Amino acid sequence: MSSAEHDTTPLALSIRGMTAGYGGPPIVHDVDMNVGSGRVVAVVGPNGAGKSTLLKAILGIARVQAGRVELNGADVTGVPLEKLARLGIGYVPQADDVFDGLRVRENLDMGGYLFNRAERAERMERALEVFPQLRPRLNRYVETLSGGERKMTAIARVLMLDPSVLILDEPTASLSPELSRTVLESQVRRLGDLGKAVLLVEQKAVAALGVSDWAYMLVRGEVVMSADAHEVLEKPDMREIFLGATAPSDEPGEAGAERGGMVRTSIREAE
Ligand SMILES: Nc1ncnc2c1ncn2[C@@H]1O[C@H](COP(=O)(O)OP(=O)(O)OP(=O)(O)O)[C@@H](O)[C@H]1O
Ligand SMILES: [Mg+2]
Repeated sequence: MSSAEHDTTPLALSIRGMTAGYGGPPIVHDVDMNVGSGRVVAVVGPNGAGKSTLLKAILGIARVQAGRVELNGADVTGVPLEKLARLGIGYVPQADDVFDGLRVRENLDMGGYLFNRAERAERMERALEVFPQLRPRLNRYVETLSGGERKMTAIARVLMLDPSVLILDEPTASLSPELSRTVLESQVRRLGDLGKAVLLVEQKAVAALGVSDWAYMLVRGEVVMSADAHEVLEKPDMREIFLGATAPSDEPGEAGAERGGMVRTSIREAE
């Protein structure tokens, strides 16, 4: 019996039979995923696998052709992003996640636009308790921050709405390997430890799995494997499969995609 079957954590976010795209042929096919409160769940896979599309489908941006999204058991399929923010889903996109030309304080303030001034101040205080490193930077323009500090500002801005679910699209995309590890360990894992349900899309598989509880591998729009993240890292054969699908030095994911195909076959055969 896998650890998933033992997991009694209440589900915050569920994706059931999700098929989605942009109006043409579907990009993601029949995807099932679960994220419990206090859990960090990684989605890894090669470039073009459909990771961002999956997130956009959850967030009411891409077109859902079949399946549904549930937030704490309630159907929120196709609900627009702004309404999802009010319902407790925070989204940090891969790029354009902070407002250049504004100070850190102003970025956080904009994240709390739904609330009055007093409430925004209180929420900012709470966001700064999560990321105290931002406090001395409050009056800095975001374009003068380091990459890690910018990402921290982006996440803190989303925290202003006190989300129960956080969806992060490649938070380490433009960061050095060391900084990536720092962001994943000191920011992303922290969110899970605070009780948030975190859905993390990453290409840096080993670093992502190191801070995750569970991992899904997406290849050509399909979940080809899902497993306990610690188990993946510990078992050389599984580790190799996940790495093969994501190693940035590989030719654009092809080797991984092939292996993904093999995994799928063996999973199918095992069923
Ligand atoms: N707005 C769009 N309209 C049509 N097709 C799109 C659109 N955005 C992405 N696609 C296509 O969907 C497929 C999956 O892209 P997606 O961005 O979801 O992949 P990804 O796994 O996030 O890749 P990466 O790791 O490079 O970010 C690609 O073939 C891409 O060209
Ligand atoms: Mg992407």
